[in-house]
Amino acid sequence: MHEGLQQEINTYEKRTPRSKAAHTRAEGRLPLGVASNYRAYDPYPIFVRDGKGGHIRDIDGNEYLDFNLCFGALMAGHCHPAVMKAVQAKLGTGTMFGMPHDLEWELAEEICQRFPVEMVRFSNSGTECTMHAVRLARAATGRDRIIKMEGGYHGLHDSVLVSLKPKASEIGDPNFPTAVPGGSGIPKATVQNTLIAQFNDISGVERLFAKYPGEIAAVIVEPIMMNVGILMPQEGYHQALREITRKNGALLIFDEVKTGAKLAYGGACEYFGVKPDIVCLAKSIGGGFSLAAFASTRQVMGQISDHKVFHGGTYNTNPVAMAAGLATFREVLTKDAYTHVTKLNKKLLDGYNKQISKTGLNAYVIGAGSNGALMFFDKPIRNYRDWLDADSELWRHYWFAMVNRGVMAQPYWWDEQWTVSVAHTEADIDRHIATFAEIAPALAKAQKEPHVAATAGH
Ligand SMILES: Cc1ncc(COP(=O)(O)O)c(C=O)c1O
Repeated sequence: MHEGLQQEINTYEKRTPRSKAAHTRAEGRLPLGVASNYRAYDPYPIFVRDGKGGHIRDIDGNEYLDFNLCFGALMAGHCHPAVMKAVQAKLGTGTMFGMPHDLEWELAEEICQRFPVEMVRFSNSGTECTMHAVRLARAATGRDRIIKMEGGYHGLHDSVLVSLKPKASEIGDPNFPTAVPGGSGIPKATVQNTLIAQFNDISGVERLFAKYPGEIAAVIVEPIMMNVGILMPQEGYHQALREITRKNGALLIFDEVKTGAKLAYGGACEYFGVKPDIVCLAKSIGGGFSLAAFASTRQVMGQISDHKVFHGGTYNTNPVAMAAGLATFREVLTKDAYTHVTKLNKKLLDGYNKQISKTGLNAYVIGAGSNGALMFFDKPIRNYRDWLDADSELWRHYWFAMVNRGVMAQPYWWDEQWTVSVAHTEADIDRHIATFAEIAPALAKAQKEPHVAATAGH
């Protein structure tokens, strides 16, 4: 570990003794001391006390400007007044019934008005959505195999927990990447049904359709890969995926768990001008509550109506989450909101760029909608294999240095990105940039020192 990073970690430990103690206690009862593996990192994670707007406070009383925003699930910011008002109104009138209510069709209509879909079902997490989407596609085609992109993340169910963060030694042939299970417990037969292509490699997808004619139910893709920082599709990539899937009788699933709310009013479908067969939504559509949806054509969703495909869930459409979702769509994720966050994000990206040029830091920043990421690479990455060269040591230096100065620039992990919320202000962006300006010279210096640069994920 280089000296600059070690100093920042020392400072972190001095600022957060209560988090350390809480984590030690939690480790006795929760594996890794956390409720989701993504929340665990060395030396220990920050334990949060509360949040408001674009800010959070930890249990040691430190305040942070929050661009993590629950891994991008809070474009609304914390406790958005419109969301809180809608939720509070619901709290006194019953939180769960397991029976239909009006908010269901109201929110479904809202989604159909923004996305090129005709029918919607709700669930509670992104994982559930992509699981149901894959099942619908399998049922619609009578085929078992799916294609997913190497390094792509679609949640935790078996079919997609494959080649999530494979090591360089495991990835195999670039033309036919190896399907690598994302941990133990995933049946071999399931892994065999998940075929892997590289993002931005249309010929890779074509090769798979040629190798497995009539066997592939769907291509599932995150329109902008946001599990390797930010990885943009090349011009025409999604149009080509659309064409190939259609030609081969397979469905195209857009996993818009992140992009659906954070990219544009109509998500990636609008942004890239593509009509996939199934759209998966979660995270920021709930304004801070567990809400997710999968949506498609009448024909595909009709499989549920026809009792061909089963979908259910005790917690689906609980009125609190639905009220939050409706308020979020109608009062938070407005056209004006996208103008606001895109403008702030541009300012933030410009600020980073200025410091990168000034300090000679070997890095670039990239953004889309409310998302942005500082990427420690010479040139824009094109796929997961390029991302494997990520300089995790330098990235950690960046993250701890920002956090120690009160800016949570993004979630911990160098495969994540920042989110600008509707609650952030010009002054917040100025402070974020000023903090980066303060640390950028040290990062540029550290980059020139010999250190362990490469990582194969986490
Ligand atoms: C693109 C994408 N799909 C699916 C998921 C899974 O969502 P959840 O954590 O709500 O299950 C995530 C979560 O980060 C995601 O980023």
